Amino acid sequence: MSSVLAERSLAALDGWKMVCALEDIPRLGSRVVKSAAGDIAVFRTSDDEVFALHDKCPHKGGPLSQGIVHGRQVTCPLHGWKTRLDDGNAVAPDVGCTKPFAVKVEDGLVLLKVQGLSPLPAGERAG
Ligand code: FES
Repeated sequence: MSSVLAERSLAALDGWKMVCALEDIPRLGSRVVKSAAGDIAVFRTSDDEVFALHDKCPHKGGPLSQGIVHGRQVTCPLHGWKTRLDDGNAVAPDVGCTKPFAVKVEDGLVLLKVQGLSPLPAGERAG
């Protein structure tokens, strides 16, 4: 880990916490971060946009982190529901919502605003 990463990982930046480098998340893939709020799936689109959702499908709780990212949506691996990455809402005609979390990228680092974060490298997956 670079010194910049080490510094950021130790610092709480106005409630934002560094969880990984953008490059640690595969394009069209995700990385799971443990938190007091439950597992959070951090997604990276083909355009390097980053979104964070509770890692539970609005249908029956499937692991969205293992779904297929396309555009600004993820398709659940269990029954194929599509969920919007920007607000966590299921795409019509399905109805439901999973909790979105605040996430941003600064200087190539992914920052999340959630209590009790702990990065989980084993949760990383290729898209
Ligand atoms: S649990 Fe995700 S589509 Fe059913």
